[in-house]
Amino acid sequence: MENNHGVRLVWQQKDKGAAIETPIIIQEREHIFANPLNAQQLFDQIIDPAATEKIQNTGRLIQGNNLDVLKLLRDEGYEGKIDLIYIDPPYLSESRYSSRIKLGDKDNYQIFERLVFKDEGEESLDSYLDELYLCMQLMKQLLSSRGSIFVHIDWHISHYVRVILDEVFGSKNFINEIVWCYGGGSGTRKHFHRKHDLIFWYSRSEDYIFNPQYRPYSPKTIERGLTRVKGDKYNLNTEGALMQDWWTDINKILSPTAYENLKFPTQKPLALLKRIVAAASSTDSIVADFFSGSGTTAAACEEMERQWIICDNSPIAANTTIQRLVKMQARPFIFDVVNREYPEPGTSGNFEATVVTRVHSEQYRRVDIEITSYSTVNQKIETFEPDISFKSLIEFWEIDFDYQEKGFYSQVQVVREKVQWDDSLPVVATILIPYQESGSIAMKVYDIFGDSCTRIFTY
Ligand SMILES: C[S@@+](CC[C@H](N)C(=O)[O-])C[C@H]1O[C@@H](n2cnc3c(N)ncnc32)[C@H](O)[C@@H]1O
Repeated sequence: MENNHGVRLVWQQKDKGAAIETPIIIQEREHIFANPLNAQQLFDQIIDPAATEKIQNTGRLIQGNNLDVLKLLRDEGYEGKIDLIYIDPPYLSESRYSSRIKLGDKDNYQIFERLVFKDEGEESLDSYLDELYLCMQLMKQLLSSRGSIFVHIDWHISHYVRVILDEVFGSKNFINEIVWCYGGGSGTRKHFHRKHDLIFWYSRSEDYIFNPQYRPYSPKTIERGLTRVKGDKYNLNTEGALMQDWWTDINKILSPTAYENLKFPTQKPLALLKRIVAAASSTDSIVADFFSGSGTTAAACEEMERQWIICDNSPIAANTTIQRLVKMQARPFIFDVVNREYPEPGTSGNFEATVVTRVHSEQYRRVDIEITSYSTVNQKIETFEPDISFKSLIEFWEIDFDYQEKGFYSQVQVVREKVQWDDSLPVVATILIPYQESGSIAMKVYDIFGDSCTRIFTY
């Protein structure tokens, strides 16, 4: 225990966790080279699969339970290698986080409630604390000596989490309790509207990375200047005023039409993550998030050129993240699935496609692709309206033009331009690839339930 006062929180399961270590297996690995093609670009593009193979990955998205993923990373040698961990776990808020999605087009559609994750209520406090406690211990092992952890939480559970953080990281390593304030409506007349979250910052040592952040001076300060009040040696800082621990300048993503809104419940603003990444990491840092949701931490790291590792056990979170990173043309990254919990039994998708290749010239082979159907026996939605297009069920799809045993190399991704589940997804493509006598082309289709299906075509 890091605390020297000996005070610690106790719950029933504490320290009774089974020490049995199950092997952590990477069941699927995909290399993604962001190349989102729109309907026009899918015709007569030239793709050279060999060009992508040697490129270094800078990110890794892992679909799996975070305890498994943390053990996997520890066993892979990441101990002491990560400079910044941000986590935004469920808050024990007793809620079902889902998004209502509309399948079909504006005249003919079906509404479907897509569950992303379930947040338990107070009756699960014991197991909630236990899992978080185990996670924190593993996260501590992965942090570098200059590293920090930022734990994003709200009033439901913050009081317990703070005590556990004191125990695991040591109260002397507490740096800040950041209060993130936001707006938005609430109908209650029973108490003040709850409009802030807490972000606890703990470091691994006294020598932690911190790059001060600045906020604009208020118009009054600029008008007055500091010189008249404090004397000549105090000039206004060109970067602005030093940032306090309460942040009011970043709002929640409230508007359903906001550019940033990925229709992922609990999605955090990119600006919030960029501030944390900027403050507590360097350009050569590895940044991690073990409850990554829609991938906001990875998106911030892409914009700020940090390496990243993120994980979530929800396949919908993984799908949302892949599309997000593809659309922002992220640097190449890996997508791993470990100890798969999904799809649940009884869920499975399947697609039919035609892939025809012919000699185009001495240099190129022409590949004509068309997805002709997608079907699923997913039991979460009982029946589909018969005339809802199969395209609505597909979230996005990818192509590897030189598929080999070493795994799926996604060189082209076909995504919708907007976040919607209509039939606007292109399903036809004509691509030129460097000529070779024979080979294999693989296609991978992800559906709206988080399921995916791969098919290989040889020529
Ligand atoms: C509050 S959300 C994170 C939102 C994220 N910060 C964003 O900006 O989109 C919490 C996420 O934790 C994931 N999660 C919950 N328990 C998990 C576990 N044991 N392992 C991995 N992910 C988990 C959920 O699927 C959910 O996506």
